[in-house]
Amino acid sequence: MSKSPNIFIPALAGTAGILGVAFAVTSRDYGADKIRALETRMGQVEAQASAASEKASVEAQRAAELELKIAEVQAAASQRVASLTAPAPAVEGTYGIGRPALDEEVAAWDVDVLPDGRGLPAGGGDVFTGEEVFAEKCASCHGDFAEGVDNWPVLAGGFDTLADEDPVKTVGSYWPYLSTAWDYIHRSMPFGEAGTLTADETYAIVAYILYSNDLVDDNFELTRENFADFNMYNMDGFTVDDRPEQEYAAWRAEPCMENCKDEVQVTMRSVFLVDTPPEGGSDSVMNPASIDGLPSFTAAGPSFIPEAAPKPAPVVQKAAVTQPAAPDLMEAGEKVFKKCKACHQVGEGAKNRSGPHLNGLIGRTMGSVDGFAYSSVFAAALDEGRIWDEAALAEFLAKPKTYMKGTKMSFSGLKKDEDLAAITAYLKSYGE
Ligand code: HEC
Ligand code: HEC
Repeated sequence: MSKSPNIFIPALAGTAGILGVAFAVTSRDYGADKIRALETRMGQVEAQASAASEKASVEAQRAAELELKIAEVQAAASQRVASLTAPAPAVEGTYGIGRPALDEEVAAWDVDVLPDGRGLPAGGGDVFTGEEVFAEKCASCHGDFAEGVDNWPVLAGGFDTLADEDPVKTVGSYWPYLSTAWDYIHRSMPFGEAGTLTADETYAIVAYILYSNDLVDDNFELTRENFADFNMYNMDGFTVDDRPEQEYAAWRAEPCMENCKDEVQVTMRSVFLVDTPPEGGSDSVMNPASIDGLPSFTAAGPSFIPEAAPKPAPVVQKAAVTQPAAPDLMEAGEKVFKKCKACHQVGEGAKNRSGPHLNGLIGRTMGSVDGFAYSSVFAAALDEGRIWDEAALAEFLAKPKTYMKGTKMSFSGLKKDEDLAAITAYLKSYGE
């Protein structure tokens, strides 16, 4: 450190001297200075005040502007709300869409015919003409004599069957009014070409259907004029539903809502649920629950109440995998066969159902059961002389659609090897 503090001493002494002079001057001019200072201050305050008031007036103006704007927006909004909620203004005249329907158009829609013949168009037709039109337009499905081809509806006969368990209900035997036949045929037949029959053709066809039912002679002509005179065979076979007057009152009683039985007991269990296949899905059509072997439920009560299934015994791991004893395997096979039962029969008197019978399967040529209509993949297997052995069967049953591409057997397959072994053993036991 080279500079010693004492070199500042002369400088301090000098400063003190100057301050002393300044003090003397200030105290002499005290009054005039104070006034000047106050005047300056006054000027400053006045400037501040005028700036503040200017700012305030600008702000007030801005506020007024905003208030005006808010009022405008509010007015617009309430006008909009009013326009949305107000009832639609009345409009003079139409919208200029559409035109009144012509009489012809109304008539074309108004085709219904009533039992007394109201609604029938003018015209007529005879049995002879009817036979020709029927042969051309209807016989392909309903047969030349209205007897019905395959499963197409029969239109004639069945008169003495109405009281049977399976009555043949035809236009002749069952329909109470002729107008229904006329209206139905004119409206909806020929199937797929509805609305193509003329009125005269329809009269003629209906006359022919009556003739096919032995209800008229071959020279009969049906016209609008004689239509209402014709009484159908089953005209009085229907009764008016008078249950509201006759019966409802007898059924009506205050329902019991509490303590309606003295004693409660289980009378039934949902036994079908026990057999619901765990996989669900497409296998569910294979739900093996069937009426066979299930308890019967009558008014007297159930034949028995099935016990809850016993808990499976714990699996004991053995050193070597042992084949289950044959009876067990057969039992298991019978159980698996429940999945096939809906389509296949096996055993004495087994017939073809939706699948061929499965007697003597192992060693049998594929697709070879007489009288069963196989898919082409099975027909091809037959041509090649392929034989069912255990391996082929297991592969097929594991994935039918993969093993026999295009097979019509709709079965998703057996997933477990145990099931495959069991069903094979089971089917083998039906050697032939
Ligand atoms: C392509 C086949 C086919 C042709 C052609 C056809 N029909 Fe039909 N017809 C049907 C079928 C299918 C039904 C049943 C329709 C239904 O139940 O909805 C039926 C029903 C009827 C019925 C009602 C039968 C009943 O007891 O319920 C009458 C009547 C009838 N047809 C008359 C005629 C006449 C008359 C013609 C010719 C102008 C004709 N059909 C042409 C297929 C045909
Ligand atoms: C939904 C019906 C259905 C079910 C379920 C069904 N099958 Fe089939 N099965 C058929 C039909 C249909 C055929 C004929 C296949 C073809 O022609 O493509 C067939 C064919 C077979 C064949 C070939 C027979 C022959 O003559 O070559 C065997 C084997 C067979 N099924 C076994 C079974 C077994 C075992 C089960 C049960 C695990 C079963 N099927 C379940 C419908 C079924």
